[in-house]
Amino acid sequence: EKGGYDHFMLKEIFEQPDTIFDCLRGRLDATKGTIRMAGIQQNIQQLTQAKRIIMIACGTSWHAGLIAEYIFEELCRIPVEVEYASEFRYRNPVIHPGDVIIAISQSGETADTIVAIEKAKESGAFILGVVNVVGSSIARISHAGAYTHAGPEIGVASTKAFTAQLAVLTMIALKIAHEKGTIDTTRYMQLLGELHSVPEKVKEVLKLSESIRGLAQKYKDAKDALYLGRGYNFAVALEGALKLKEISYIHAEGYPAAEMKHGPIALVDEQLPVVFVATKDSYHEKIVSNIQEIKARKGRVIAVISHGDSIIENMAEDCMRIPETDEIIAPMLSVIPLQLLAYYIGAVKGYDVDKPRNLAKSVTVE
Ligand code: M6R
Repeated sequence: EKGGYDHFMLKEIFEQPDTIFDCLRGRLDATKGTIRMAGIQQNIQQLTQAKRIIMIACGTSWHAGLIAEYIFEELCRIPVEVEYASEFRYRNPVIHPGDVIIAISQSGETADTIVAIEKAKESGAFILGVVNVVGSSIARISHAGAYTHAGPEIGVASTKAFTAQLAVLTMIALKIAHEKGTIDTTRYMQLLGELHSVPEKVKEVLKLSESIRGLAQKYKDAKDALYLGRGYNFAVALEGALKLKEISYIHAEGYPAAEMKHGPIALVDEQLPVVFVATKDSYHEKIVSNIQEIKARKGRVIAVISHGDSIIENMAEDCMRIPETDEIIAPMLSVIPLQLLAYYIGAVKGYDVDKPRNLAKSVTVE
């Protein structure tokens, strides 16, 4: 059932070319320039006229929401907020009729997310579910939705569900933007093309697996790690840190790279691995100077970079090189080396990576 892999987590990481392909299949036509998603199409007025979108989720799904915030604001020009379901449900948030809630959940059974949706619904919000498990509670209580179609995810650490969430959220944003006219045709067609090529590029990224296993050996005894990224890769840094915490029990923190000098830089010494998510994008020059700041304090720099980035290659102690793509699409690729790194560190340490201590696959209690 693990298909020859040692753990479900590794199997699920390796399934990503197929799961992303399945998620795009029948929806995206990059040649014709169309995105078919019935749940979005049927409610397109509601979505294009939304004055505000609120993403509600927990954990890894919340990270997908953070990335989607940047994508939606960039492409659709609609203000977006991202909320932890557990905070949203207990406070007294301002919700107007017509606000659109995008609830993101792999399991569709996360208790806090369910209650947050119910609360927003009572205030007249429109609920769009981005859910993996077909027929789950969140899928049922949403007004409309789009499934991520990643198949059953058994490993407690979410991997393939995350990249499928990103694929679905990107398609929804593109569809709304196209309909609203907030994206020009050239950029729209270009992004559709890039999205279409993600499964092939993920296959390329997975070829890093053996070399990342080597890095895991090298860094497995670290006590702490810092993960830094900017822009679309900021939440990828958060996700990389969460994966490492869950699977290898190494304390890790994710931060926006520029925020580090407001505190976390105090942690940097010659022991500390600092993982930069630094693919070629509009923030590149800025992140290069953040890398310099870490090096000046003797931190050990590990970087996820785009192929051919000789600037960062010459600065980092270790690099994980991935294919180039548009910055909006990059998180679907840049997260994968971080999934592998967390997996291999956990595995080398002999931990039960599919069932880390204290964690459940879906958190159905408050
Ligand atoms: O099923 P959901 O997406 O609603 O679950 C949300 C979180 O509980 C989940 O992402 C959790 O953080 C994972 N263990 C992350 O790997």
